[in-house]
Amino acid sequence: MKALVLAGGKGTRLRPLTHTSAKQLVPVANKPVLFYGLEALRDAGVTEVGIVVGDTAQEVRDAVGDGSSFGLEVTYIPQDAPLGLAHCVLIARRFLGDDPFVMYLGDNFLVGGIRDLVDSFRDGGHDAQILLTKVAEPQFYGVAELGPDGQIVGLAEKPERPRSDLAIVGVYIFSPVIHEAVRAITPSARGELEITDAISWLIQRGYHVHSHLVSGYWKDTGRLQDMLECNRIVLEQVEPEINGTVDGLSEITGRVVVERGAVVENSVLRGPIVVGANSKIVSSYVGPFTSIGPGCVVTNAEIEYSIVLDGSTVVGVSRIGHSLIGRNVEVTSAEGAPNTHELMVGDHSKIKVRV
Ligand code: G1P
Repeated sequence: MKALVLAGGKGTRLRPLTHTSAKQLVPVANKPVLFYGLEALRDAGVTEVGIVVGDTAQEVRDAVGDGSSFGLEVTYIPQDAPLGLAHCVLIARRFLGDDPFVMYLGDNFLVGGIRDLVDSFRDGGHDAQILLTKVAEPQFYGVAELGPDGQIVGLAEKPERPRSDLAIVGVYIFSPVIHEAVRAITPSARGELEITDAISWLIQRGYHVHSHLVSGYWKDTGRLQDMLECNRIVLEQVEPEINGTVDGLSEITGRVVVERGAVVENSVLRGPIVVGANSKIVSSYVGPFTSIGPGCVVTNAEIEYSIVLDGSTVVGVSRIGHSLIGRNVEVTSAEGAPNTHELMVGDHSKIKVRV
Protein backbone atom coordinates (compact mmCIF):
# COMPACT_ATOMS: atom_id res chain seq x y z
CA MET A 1 0.00 0.00 0.00
CA LYS A 2 1.33 3.42 -0.98
CA ALA A 3 -0.02 6.90 -0.24
CA LEU A 4 -0.69 9.94 -2.35
CA VAL A 5 -0.86 13.08 -0.25
CA LEU A 6 -2.20 16.19 -1.93
CA ALA A 7 -0.53 19.40 -0.83
CA GLY A 8 -1.12 21.74 -3.78
CA GLY A 9 -4.06 24.10 -4.28
CA LYS A 10 -4.49 27.75 -3.41
CA GLY A 11 -6.31 27.69 -0.08
CA THR A 12 -8.54 30.65 -0.89
CA ARG A 13 -10.90 29.68 1.92
CA LEU A 14 -8.23 30.24 4.54
CA ARG A 15 -7.21 33.72 3.53
CA PRO A 16 -5.49 35.79 4.83
CA LEU A 17 -3.30 33.01 6.30
CA THR A 18 -2.83 31.41 2.90
CA HIS A 19 -1.66 34.64 1.27
CA THR A 20 1.70 33.82 2.78
CA SER A 21 1.58 30.12 3.61
CA ALA A 22 0.41 26.74 2.25
CA LYS A 23 -2.98 25.76 3.64
CA GLN A 24 -1.64 22.32 4.55
CA LEU A 25 0.90 23.96 6.86
CA VAL A 26 -1.58 25.92 8.95
CA PRO A 27 -0.89 24.71 12.49
CA VAL A 28 -3.29 22.92 14.80
CA ALA A 29 -1.98 22.83 18.39
CA ASN A 30 1.29 24.22 16.99
CA LYS A 31 1.75 21.44 14.41
CA PRO A 32 0.98 21.76 10.69
CA VAL A 33 -2.23 19.97 9.76
CA LEU A 34 -0.31 18.04 7.06
CA PHE A 35 1.92 16.43 9.71
CA TYR A 36 -1.06 14.76 11.39
CA GLY A 37 -1.91 13.08 8.07
CA LEU A 38 1.66 11.94 7.51
CA GLU A 39 1.79 10.49 11.02
CA ALA A 40 -1.54 8.73 10.51
CA LEU A 41 -0.17 7.08 7.35
CA ARG A 42 2.99 5.96 9.10
CA ASP A 43 0.96 4.58 12.03
CA ALA A 44 -1.13 2.59 9.53
CA GLY A 45 2.08 1.04 8.16
CA VAL A 46 2.14 3.05 4.92
CA THR A 47 5.65 4.40 4.34
CA GLU A 48 6.01 5.10 0.60
CA VAL A 49 4.39 8.50 0.18
CA GLY A 50 4.08 10.67 -2.92
CA ILE A 51 3.27 14.31 -2.13
CA VAL A 52 1.68 16.34 -4.93
CA VAL A 53 2.84 19.95 -4.66
CA GLY A 54 1.91 23.16 -6.49
CA ASP A 55 2.79 26.85 -6.01
CA THR A 56 3.83 26.30 -2.41
CA ALA A 57 6.13 23.36 -3.25
CA GLN A 58 9.20 24.87 -1.63
CA GLU A 59 7.48 25.54 1.65
CA VAL A 60 6.11 21.98 1.79
CA ARG A 61 9.55 20.53 0.92
CA ASP A 62 11.19 22.66 3.62
CA ALA A 63 8.71 21.38 6.21
CA VAL A 64 8.64 17.67 5.30
CA GLY A 65 12.06 17.06 3.71
CA ASP A 66 12.68 13.48 2.59
CA GLY A 67 10.14 12.26 5.14
CA SER A 68 12.71 10.43 7.27
CA SER A 69 11.83 12.44 10.39
CA PHE A 70 8.34 10.91 10.08
CA GLY A 71 9.65 7.43 9.28
CA LEU A 72 8.48 7.86 5.66
CA GLU A 73 10.07 7.81 2.22
CA VAL A 74 8.71 10.85 0.42
CA THR A 75 8.68 11.47 -3.34
CA TYR A 76 7.53 14.91 -4.56
CA ILE A 77 5.24 15.07 -7.57
CA PRO A 78 4.89 18.61 -9.01
CA GLN A 79 1.51 19.65 -10.41
CA ASP A 80 1.75 22.65 -12.77
CA ALA A 81 -1.80 23.89 -12.15
CA PRO A 82 -4.58 22.89 -9.73
CA LEU A 83 -6.50 20.78 -12.26
CA GLY A 84 -8.34 18.60 -9.75
CA LEU A 85 -7.88 15.66 -7.42
CA ALA A 86 -8.28 13.09 -10.20
CA HIS A 87 -5.59 14.94 -12.15
CA CYS A 88 -3.24 14.33 -9.20
CA VAL A 89 -3.85 10.58 -9.59
CA LEU A 90 -3.15 10.89 -13.34
CA ILE A 91 0.23 12.58 -12.84
CA ALA A 92 1.21 10.19 -10.04
CA ARG A 93 0.72 7.10 -12.22
CA ARG A 94 4.39 6.20 -12.38
CA PHE A 95 4.93 6.62 -8.63
CA LEU A 96 1.80 4.61 -7.76
CA GLY A 97 2.48 1.74 -10.17
CA ASP A 98 -0.07 -1.04 -9.66
CA ASP A 99 -0.23 -0.76 -5.88
CA PRO A 100 -3.38 0.07 -3.96
CA PHE A 101 -3.06 3.45 -2.31
CA VAL A 102 -4.48 5.82 0.27
CA MET A 103 -5.23 9.25 -1.15
CA TYR A 104 -5.01 11.79 1.67
CA LEU A 105 -5.92 15.44 1.19
CA GLY A 106 -3.29 17.40 3.10
CA ASP A 107 -5.77 19.94 4.48
CA ASN A 108 -8.03 17.29 6.02
CA PHE A 109 -7.95 16.30 9.65
CA LEU A 110 -9.27 12.96 10.84
CA VAL A 111 -9.33 12.19 14.55
CA GLY A 112 -8.25 8.66 15.47
CA GLY A 113 -5.95 7.81 12.58
CA ILE A 114 -6.59 5.50 9.62
CA ARG A 115 -5.12 2.16 10.68
CA ASP A 116 -8.53 0.42 10.94
CA LEU A 117 -9.60 1.86 7.59
CA VAL A 118 -6.48 0.58 5.86
CA ASP A 119 -6.89 -2.85 7.49
CA SER A 120 -10.54 -3.07 6.49
CA PHE A 121 -9.66 -2.24 2.88
CA ARG A 122 -6.91 -4.87 2.87
CA ASP A 123 -9.35 -7.50 4.16
CA GLY A 124 -12.44 -6.40 2.26
CA GLY A 125 -11.56 -6.98 -1.38
CA HIS A 126 -13.16 -3.66 -2.41
CA ASP A 127 -12.19 -1.67 -5.50
CA ALA A 128 -12.36 1.61 -3.59
CA GLN A 129 -13.25 2.83 -0.13
CA ILE A 130 -14.54 6.25 0.81
CA LEU A 131 -15.30 7.85 4.16
CA LEU A 132 -18.45 9.80 4.84
CA THR A 133 -19.36 12.13 7.67
CA LYS A 134 -22.42 14.15 8.55
CA VAL A 135 -21.88 17.88 8.03
CA ALA A 136 -24.03 20.96 8.47
CA GLU A 137 -23.28 22.43 5.04
CA PRO A 138 -22.93 19.56 2.56
CA GLN A 139 -23.04 21.92 -0.43
CA PHE A 140 -19.34 22.67 0.19
CA TYR A 141 -18.27 19.01 -0.19
CA GLY A 142 -18.64 15.95 -2.34
CA VAL A 143 -21.97 14.45 -1.19
CA ALA A 144 -23.08 10.80 -1.13
CA GLU A 145 -26.58 9.44 -1.34
CA LEU A 146 -26.99 6.02 0.24
CA GLY A 147 -29.60 3.35 -0.53
CA PRO A 148 -31.59 1.41 2.10
CA ASP A 149 -28.77 -1.11 2.62
CA GLY A 150 -26.13 1.57 2.95
CA GLN A 151 -24.88 1.12 -0.60
CA ILE A 152 -23.84 4.26 -2.48
CA VAL A 153 -26.58 5.26 -4.91
CA GLY A 154 -25.02 8.45 -6.18
CA LEU A 155 -22.23 10.98 -5.62
CA ALA A 156 -22.27 14.67 -6.45
CA GLU A 157 -19.51 17.28 -6.18
CA LYS A 158 -20.61 20.39 -4.28
CA PRO A 159 -24.27 20.12 -5.35
CA GLU A 160 -26.49 23.19 -5.02
CA ARG A 161 -29.22 21.00 -3.56
CA PRO A 162 -27.51 18.18 -1.67
CA ARG A 163 -29.46 14.91 -1.52
CA SER A 164 -28.04 14.06 1.92
CA ASP A 165 -25.91 15.54 4.69
CA LEU A 166 -23.15 12.97 4.12
CA ALA A 167 -19.94 14.63 2.96
CA ILE A 168 -17.08 12.76 1.36
CA VAL A 169 -14.05 12.98 3.64
CA GLY A 170 -10.70 13.63 1.95
CA VAL A 171 -9.21 10.23 2.75
CA TYR A 172 -9.83 7.58 0.08
CA ILE A 173 -8.39 4.13 -0.61
CA PHE A 174 -8.16 2.92 -4.19
CA SER A 175 -7.19 -0.23 -6.01
CA PRO A 176 -5.32 0.36 -9.31
CA VAL A 177 -8.62 0.27 -11.25
CA ILE A 178 -8.95 4.00 -10.37
CA HIS A 179 -6.34 4.76 -13.05
CA GLU A 180 -8.78 3.68 -15.75
CA ALA A 181 -11.46 5.89 -14.18
CA VAL A 182 -9.33 9.07 -14.01
CA ARG A 183 -8.42 8.62 -17.68
CA ALA A 184 -12.06 8.20 -18.69
CA ILE A 185 -13.63 11.27 -17.08
CA THR A 186 -13.74 14.83 -18.44
CA PRO A 187 -13.33 18.14 -16.55
CA SER A 188 -16.26 19.43 -14.47
CA ALA A 189 -17.93 22.84 -14.78
CA ARG A 190 -15.18 24.31 -12.55
CA GLY A 191 -12.61 22.97 -15.04
CA GLU A 192 -11.19 20.25 -12.76
CA LEU A 193 -10.93 16.48 -13.05
CA GLU A 194 -13.04 15.53 -10.02
CA ILE A 195 -12.20 12.44 -8.00
CA THR A 196 -15.93 12.28 -7.21
CA ASP A 197 -16.62 11.75 -10.95
CA ALA A 198 -13.95 9.04 -11.12
CA ILE A 199 -15.56 7.21 -8.18
CA SER A 200 -19.01 7.58 -9.80
CA TRP A 201 -17.51 6.06 -12.97
CA LEU A 202 -16.43 3.03 -10.91
CA ILE A 203 -19.88 2.64 -9.35
CA GLN A 204 -21.65 2.92 -12.71
CA ARG A 205 -19.50 0.12 -14.08
CA GLY A 206 -20.31 -2.19 -11.21
CA TYR A 207 -17.05 -1.88 -9.30
CA HIS A 208 -17.41 -2.24 -5.57
CA VAL A 209 -17.03 1.06 -3.73
CA HIS A 210 -17.36 0.64 0.00
CA SER A 211 -18.27 3.49 2.34
CA HIS A 212 -17.57 3.98 6.04
CA LEU A 213 -19.21 6.53 8.29
CA VAL A 214 -16.78 8.42 10.53
CA SER A 215 -17.01 11.09 13.19
CA GLY A 216 -14.24 13.38 14.36
CA TYR A 217 -13.59 14.96 10.99
CA TRP A 218 -12.51 18.47 10.22
CA LYS A 219 -11.73 20.38 7.07
CA ASP A 220 -11.22 24.07 6.60
CA THR A 221 -14.22 25.77 5.10
CA GLY A 222 -12.66 29.14 5.73
CA ARG A 223 -14.58 29.47 8.92
CA LEU A 224 -12.82 30.50 12.06
CA GLN A 225 -14.99 28.29 14.26
CA ASP A 226 -13.90 25.17 12.34
CA MET A 227 -10.24 25.91 12.97
CA LEU A 228 -10.81 26.69 16.63
CA GLU A 229 -12.85 23.51 17.07
CA CYS A 230 -10.15 21.39 15.47
CA ASN A 231 -7.57 23.05 17.70
CA ARG A 232 -9.75 22.35 20.74
CA ILE A 233 -10.14 18.66 19.88
CA VAL A 234 -6.39 18.18 19.51
CA LEU A 235 -5.55 20.18 22.64
CA GLU A 236 -7.95 18.07 24.70
CA GLN A 237 -5.62 15.14 24.12
CA VAL A 238 -2.18 16.70 24.61
CA GLU A 239 0.05 15.32 27.30
CA PRO A 240 0.97 18.06 29.79
CA GLU A 241 4.66 18.85 29.65
CA ILE A 242 6.69 21.79 30.95
CA ASN A 243 9.95 22.14 29.02
CA GLY A 244 10.29 25.90 29.48
CA THR A 245 10.56 28.00 32.63
CA VAL A 246 7.58 28.81 34.83
CA ASP A 247 8.17 31.12 37.80
CA GLY A 248 6.73 30.67 41.29
CA LEU A 249 4.19 33.47 40.86
CA SER A 250 2.47 31.65 38.01
CA GLU A 251 -0.44 29.25 38.32
CA ILE A 252 -0.81 26.30 35.97
CA THR A 253 -3.96 24.17 35.79
CA GLY A 254 -4.94 21.25 33.55
CA ARG A 255 -3.28 20.09 30.35
CA VAL A 256 -0.62 22.68 29.73
CA VAL A 257 2.35 22.30 27.39
CA VAL A 258 5.15 24.84 27.69
CA GLU A 259 7.68 24.15 24.95
CA ARG A 260 11.45 24.47 25.11
CA GLY A 261 12.82 27.93 25.83
CA ALA A 262 9.42 29.44 26.65
CA VAL A 263 9.19 31.65 29.74
CA VAL A 264 6.07 32.11 31.88
CA GLU A 265 6.10 34.82 34.56
CA ASN A 266 3.41 35.98 36.96
CA SER A 267 0.67 34.46 34.80
CA VAL A 268 -2.34 32.15 34.98
CA LEU A 269 -2.37 29.32 32.44
CA ARG A 270 -5.54 27.22 32.33
CA GLY A 271 -5.32 24.24 30.01
CA PRO A 272 -5.68 22.72 27.67
CA ILE A 273 -3.20 25.05 26.06
CA VAL A 274 0.16 24.94 24.35
CA VAL A 275 2.78 27.68 24.59
CA GLY A 276 5.29 27.47 21.72
CA ALA A 277 9.07 27.34 21.96
CA ASN A 278 10.79 30.58 23.01
CA SER A 279 7.52 32.40 23.67
CA LYS A 280 7.12 34.74 26.60
CA ILE A 281 3.97 35.01 28.71
CA VAL A 282 4.20 37.80 31.30
CA SER A 283 1.51 39.03 33.74
CA SER A 284 -1.18 37.47 31.58
CA TYR A 285 -4.01 34.95 31.53
CA VAL A 286 -4.03 32.24 28.86
CA GLY A 287 -7.28 30.31 28.99
CA PRO A 288 -8.56 26.97 27.72
CA PHE A 289 -8.20 25.79 24.10
CA THR A 290 -5.48 28.25 23.15
CA SER A 291 -2.40 27.56 21.04
CA ILE A 292 0.34 30.15 21.26
CA GLY A 293 2.91 29.57 18.50
CA PRO A 294 6.69 29.75 18.86
CA GLY A 295 8.42 33.08 19.45
CA CYS A 296 5.30 34.95 20.63
CA VAL A 297 5.05 37.58 23.38
CA VAL A 298 1.90 37.93 25.52
CA THR A 299 2.19 40.66 28.14
CA ASN A 300 -0.46 42.20 30.40
CA ALA A 301 -3.08 40.48 28.30
CA GLU A 302 -5.83 37.90 28.52
CA ILE A 303 -6.56 35.39 25.79
CA GLU A 304 -8.58 32.18 25.50
CA TYR A 305 -10.08 29.83 22.87
CA SER A 306 -7.71 31.24 20.25
CA ILE A 307 -4.80 30.41 17.96
CA VAL A 308 -1.78 32.70 17.76
CA LEU A 309 0.84 31.87 15.12
CA ASP A 310 4.62 32.29 15.21
CA GLY A 311 6.25 35.53 16.24
CA SER A 312 3.13 37.48 17.19
CA THR A 313 2.76 39.95 20.05
CA VAL A 314 -0.28 40.60 22.22
CA VAL A 315 0.27 43.40 24.73
CA GLY A 316 -2.11 45.16 27.08
CA VAL A 317 -5.32 43.78 25.58
CA SER A 318 -8.07 41.97 27.42
CA ARG A 319 -9.75 39.84 26.68
CA ILE A 320 -9.15 38.20 23.32
CA GLY A 321 -11.29 35.15 22.61
CA HIS A 322 -12.48 33.11 19.61
CA SER A 323 -9.63 34.55 17.53
CA LEU A 324 -7.05 33.45 15.01
CA ILE A 325 -3.99 35.67 14.85
CA GLY A 326 -1.50 35.12 12.00
CA ARG A 327 2.29 35.25 11.97
CA ASN A 328 4.28 38.27 13.19
CA VAL A 329 1.11 40.17 14.07
CA GLU A 330 1.07 42.93 16.70
CA VAL A 331 -2.04 43.42 18.81
CA THR A 332 -1.50 46.21 21.32
CA SER A 333 -3.57 48.74 23.22
CA ALA A 334 -4.13 52.23 21.83
CA GLU A 335 -3.42 55.08 24.20
CA GLY A 336 -4.45 58.71 24.57
CA ALA A 337 -7.12 60.63 22.66
CA PRO A 338 -8.98 60.21 20.41
CA ASN A 339 -10.72 57.05 21.62
CA THR A 340 -10.29 55.04 18.42
CA HIS A 341 -9.43 51.53 17.29
CA GLU A 342 -6.30 51.73 15.16
CA LEU A 343 -6.06 49.02 12.54
CA MET A 344 -3.62 48.00 9.86
CA VAL A 345 -5.05 44.77 8.57
CA GLY A 346 -4.11 42.58 5.60
CA ASP A 347 -6.33 41.54 2.71
CA HIS A 348 -9.27 39.23 3.48
CA SER A 349 -8.89 39.72 7.23
CA LYS A 350 -11.87 39.80 9.55
CA ILE A 351 -12.10 42.00 12.64
CA LYS A 352 -14.84 42.08 15.24
CA VAL A 353 -14.57 45.00 17.62
CA ARG A 354 -16.66 45.11 20.79
CA VAL A 355 -18.06 48.64 21.15
C1 G1P B 1 -12.43 17.96 -2.23
C2 G1P B 1 -13.34 16.96 -2.94
C3 G1P B 1 -14.67 16.82 -2.16
C4 G1P B 1 -14.39 16.44 -0.72
C5 G1P B 1 -13.40 17.44 -0.09
C6 G1P B 1 -12.96 16.96 1.27
O1 G1P B 1 -12.96 19.25 -2.31
O2 G1P B 1 -13.56 17.38 -4.27
O3 G1P B 1 -15.48 15.85 -2.76
O4 G1P B 1 -15.60 16.42 0.02
O5 G1P B 1 -12.22 17.59 -0.89
O6 G1P B 1 -11.96 17.81 1.78
P1 G1P B 1 -12.04 20.55 -2.44
O7 G1P B 1 -11.16 20.58 -1.23
O8 G1P B 1 -11.26 20.40 -3.69
O9 G1P B 1 -12.99 21.69 -2.48
